[in-house]
Amino acid sequence: MITLSVNGVPRTLPIEPRVSLLDALRDRLDLTGTKKGCNQGACGACTVWVDKRRVLACLTLAITCEMREITTIEGLAGDGELHPMQTAFIERDAFQCGYCTPGQIMSAVAFLAEGHQPDDPQIKEWMSGNLCRCAAYPHIRAAIRQVHEASIAGGSDAAG
Ligand code: FES
Ligand code: FES
Repeated sequence: MITLSVNGVPRTLPIEPRVSLLDALRDRLDLTGTKKGCNQGACGACTVWVDKRRVLACLTLAITCEMREITTIEGLAGDGELHPMQTAFIERDAFQCGYCTPGQIMSAVAFLAEGHQPDDPQIKEWMSGNLCRCAAYPHIRAAIRQVHEASIAGGSDAAG
């Protein structure tokens, strides 16, 4: 048995040492917002945060996350309101099929929290682990810039 803290809620579950965090979230805890794309660290669809740092859940063993705080896309919205990055993705039409979107959003919020400048070269560099087969990249970049500009104007913490 291990206990994982997921989106602020402790979840105790029987789990074998070989089970990935991605499979634990999706198959054992029914948190299917986190997507399985390649399952080998190449696409970023499975991006979640562990202790507020982005990780690839398909390459992370669930057992290594005990005593750490896991945040998934389901935990990003608070008090019934979407996170500003979720709103910006909608407003900027930053997804088509939507399969990469949860990972993109988790990575985009972390990108700003890490203090990178949201110009095209920086976004391309630091979001390069998140692939979008629909090629919504210009819209994703626009959404990130929108959140950054709003955080400057409002003096708020875009990392929420
Ligand atoms: S599913 Fe984890 S990187 Fe593709
Ligand atoms: S929106 Fe389809 S893969 Fe990104």
